[in-house]
Amino acid sequence: MDLKGKKVLITGGSAGIGKALLRELISHGVNDFAIIGRSQDKLDKLKKDFENINFILVQGDVSQLSDIERLVKEVDKQWGNLDLLINNAGVISTGSLQTISDVDIINQININLTGLILLTKKALPLLLKSEEAGLMNISSGLGYIAKPFYSVYAATKAGVKHFSEAMRRELVFENIHVMTVYPTATDTDMMITSKIENMDTAELVARKSIEGLLNKDIDVILGGKQRKKDIETNINRPLEMDKIAKERYESYRDKTEFHRAM
Ligand SMILES: NC(=O)c1ccc[n+]([C@@H]2O[C@H](COP(=O)([O-])OP(=O)(O)OC[C@H]3O[C@@H](n4cnc5c(N)ncnc54)[C@H](OP(=O)(O)O)[C@@H]3O)[C@@H](O)[C@H]2O)c1
Repeated sequence: MDLKGKKVLITGGSAGIGKALLRELISHGVNDFAIIGRSQDKLDKLKKDFENINFILVQGDVSQLSDIERLVKEVDKQWGNLDLLINNAGVISTGSLQTISDVDIINQININLTGLILLTKKALPLLLKSEEAGLMNISSGLGYIAKPFYSVYAATKAGVKHFSEAMRRELVFENIHVMTVYPTATDTDMMITSKIENMDTAELVARKSIEGLLNKDIDVILGGKQRKKDIETNINRPLEMDKIAKERYESYRDKTEFHRAM
């Protein structure tokens, strides 16, 4: 895929991994971005940070159908088509299931999964108008291997994994490359309240994701060889992973106790 001149929509492109993806795509010749985020301040900052880029900036919430429809309508009006949709916006609220508030449970599912599915549905007609399109969904390492105290977040990210896989197969006769990215802990605002150390940078995740897009990879899995080994173990010998989780139980509990970015 030649990215020069492509039109790209990134949800949550105003911070963290989304903003790093934006920067990486600019280095590959992309000039036109549509971004949705809830904070108008963060969207305004994009215009200052990237003065020569053409933006469609929509202040809105991906879990709200009316905001998604407004976004897609604006993209249709200004561009008439879309080359790459990156479903990146996401939130997290961890802890034992009984301690996660009902509202955080509902909002994690609505933002991380329902909104992603609805936006993909609404944006598909525009992607189908592109000569060569891409759909990139940002899942998480937790979408492959669930850990204690991440029950709801992990469920949403496993949902993203399966949605992506189904869409890849559903769109097999279309000119849309569908791929999924599985970052491990990455140093962004989302992680400020976690106690996790030695994280990847958002720039690394963005570089690997765009490399994967250019190679037409279907999965980009961060976390090195060990992560891939762990995934294989989790699929074929899940009780081995249960044992490791049991040994690390207190450490997981400690790291997730106050981890919330909603
Ligand atoms: N950081 C990690 O360790 C890590 C690891 C694995 C996967 N991921 C995934 O990577 C993606 C990006 O995470 P990040 O670490 O870059 O997070 P981040 O730094 O918190 O940035 C999240 C971005 O999404 C936007 N956003 C959040 N909720 C939204 C909503 N309801 N509607 C529209 N925009 C929304 C935020 O803008 P507003 O707040 O202004 O809405 C922000 O631009 C997420 O899907 C996350 O689950 C992250």
